[in-house]
Amino acid sequence: MSASVDLGRLPRTVSVEQQDGRTVLRYIDQRLLPGELKEVVTADWLQIVDAIKVLGVRGAPAIGVAGAAACAVWAADPATSMDDFDDAMERIANARPTAVNLRWAVERACAAAREAGAIDAARQGDRAPLAQVLFQEAVAISREDEAANRAMGAYGAELIEPGSRMLTHCNAGSLATSFYGTALGVIYAAAEQGKIAHVYADETRPLGQGARLTSWELAQAGVPVTVICDNMSASLMAAGKVDAVVVGADRITRNGDTANKIGTYGVAVLAKHHGIPFYVAAPTSTVDLSLADGSLIPIEERSADEVLPQSIPGVRVWNPAFDVTPADLITAIITERGVFAPADLAAGLGE
Ligand code: MRU
Repeated sequence: MSASVDLGRLPRTVSVEQQDGRTVLRYIDQRLLPGELKEVVTADWLQIVDAIKVLGVRGAPAIGVAGAAACAVWAADPATSMDDFDDAMERIANARPTAVNLRWAVERACAAAREAGAIDAARQGDRAPLAQVLFQEAVAISREDEAANRAMGAYGAELIEPGSRMLTHCNAGSLATSFYGTALGVIYAAAEQGKIAHVYADETRPLGQGARLTSWELAQAGVPVTVICDNMSASLMAAGKVDAVVVGADRITRNGDTANKIGTYGVAVLAKHHGIPFYVAAPTSTVDLSLADGSLIPIEERSADEVLPQSIPGVRVWNPAFDVTPADLITAIITERGVFAPADLAAGLGE
């Protein structure tokens, strides 16, 4: 049985707006899902930085949009000073280290402002053009993100066989982007073509993005989903119940190595062992051609209480938020500019 899809029940995850003369970011606080669908509207750039750090806004493309929005909100705030501009932009770009989309978005917004002469104008006392350019750029990044996801979905759906049972890890869905999603965008597009029989969502320890977010969003969209604990995917594959794996990415290096949520690497090893195709879906804003391979990707380490809510005297915790899947475990990388074998990605993107 294949699924029909209704995306009308999915919220916009992040959106940059003008409200009562203020530049604001409107976002879904993802810490509260699936229990509560709460929208936060803020004109406080430090609140946006904090939301990124605590995973109120999460997912590589979504934190890129939020980062660009934070730049625009900063520029529109009369309480900020141009003396602090560089430090503030750096603080936003550094809110989380692994997903390159965040720094990419901040740098793109600042480059647009520089080219428009808006940074010079602001240093000479006229802040209005800076606020305007940064706002326009944040809106453009958000719109382009959704368009990229839809293009990726169309390319990715071509790889999916009718009747497929899919496995995904973490949440690379609409909630991780402006709208539609990357890995789940591929699933939505394939489901619209009647190709998806079922989706298995890894729970995704320690923060449960699969159990809380992927399951919720697929159910909202009407795609049949089953949650499994992370340690069950080997048995699921051995039982012949997975036809393809599709995941998102936080950073892809020149050789095709891919950082994504911790646990992705293990799923890729399992997929290889069982002869199951393993796809990565990500926009080109996730590709970092400045890094030769995945060993150079900074991996965020998060606090111990995410793993052990109650500390135990004498017990240490290691909590890396991401791991790197080597390119040779990846069947193909799906981008908005086409599908590439990992080894062909850099050349295919024209670099
Ligand atoms: O720590 P998170 O929840 O931000 O991690 C998110 C992921 O690892 C996603 O798979 C990745 O950002 C791709 S989102 C389209």
